[in-house]
Amino acid sequence: MDRDMTLGIIGVGHLAVAVIEGLIASGMAPGDILLAPRGKGPAMADRFGVRLAADNAAVVAESGIVLLAVRPGAAADAVADLGWRPGQRLVSACAGVPIEALQRAAPEAEVVRVMPLTAASIGASPTLVFPADPDVVALLERVGSPVPLRREDDFEVATVHAAVYGWAQALIATGAKWSAAQGLDEATARRLAARTFVAAGRMIAEQPAPMDDLIAALATPGGITEAGLRSLERSGVPAGWEEACDVVLGRLKGS
Ligand SMILES: NC(=O)c1ccc[n+]([C@@H]2O[C@H](COP(=O)([O-])OP(=O)(O)OC[C@H]3O[C@@H](n4cnc5c(N)ncnc54)[C@H](OP(=O)(O)O)[C@@H]3O)[C@@H](O)[C@H]2O)c1
Repeated sequence: MDRDMTLGIIGVGHLAVAVIEGLIASGMAPGDILLAPRGKGPAMADRFGVRLAADNAAVVAESGIVLLAVRPGAAADAVADLGWRPGQRLVSACAGVPIEALQRAAPEAEVVRVMPLTAASIGASPTLVFPADPDVVALLERVGSPVPLRREDDFEVATVHAAVYGWAQALIATGAKWSAAQGLDEATARRLAARTFVAAGRMIAEQPAPMDDLIAALATPGGITEAGLRSLERSGVPAGWEEACDVVLGRLKGS
């Protein structure tokens, strides 16, 4: 096996499983993925034929890039004393863990922060990355569209969207269940609710017009979109949404 081609993963839980599924679906050779033997590592080795290392030090010794996906509180301890080579990339997906904390634990490594979503499993993760190391960006392109940040200070604000991803799913589920309760068959309700969000997101992502103009074109005076928006405002949206973003940002910053 070519060590430089190998992606090591320390912390094989929910997020790592989604990333591995996406990487394999993108055509990455299972032999180029080397997992720590804890958590879901053995099950993933059985399922995909990816390799299992003896321990975390072996992951570092036998990989080029190493993805760290343990819980944030375990991150610094998990990477200490593993024999990092100078400049070896340590790519952390651990929410709220600053580069400096990992750099202290693994001084030889080059630390890169990322924030993937579980949509990595279907190649649709808008993954935050800082700094935009070209090899790491190329890897992230396999599981979606990397979103490079200009500075690490932006990471926490941007990570709020990892929570928004879950709220969006909850909103979609609310719409789908409401439609089904009115009599629409469940499969149609689910597909319609989800595809409507995909369509809304793609318009804002892909159309260059200012967002307010796109919305104004939909919310014509006296129309159904405007009526719904006014009703939502009376119920505290979007103020409640912004408040929820503030709560998550506070948690990420440890306040
Ligand atoms: N879940 C998401 O959607 C998501 C999205 C973006 C970022 N993240 C970040 O990804 C990280 C993992 O989240 P998760 O939801 O995947 O957590 P998880 O399911 O609890 O997975 C964590 C895994 O790390 C393993 N682990 C803990 N300490 C270890 C060590 N020293 N060496 C090797 N393996 C170790 C655990 O194994 P044991 O079971 O043996 O303890 C477990 O399998 C978090 O920092 C989170 O902020 C998660």
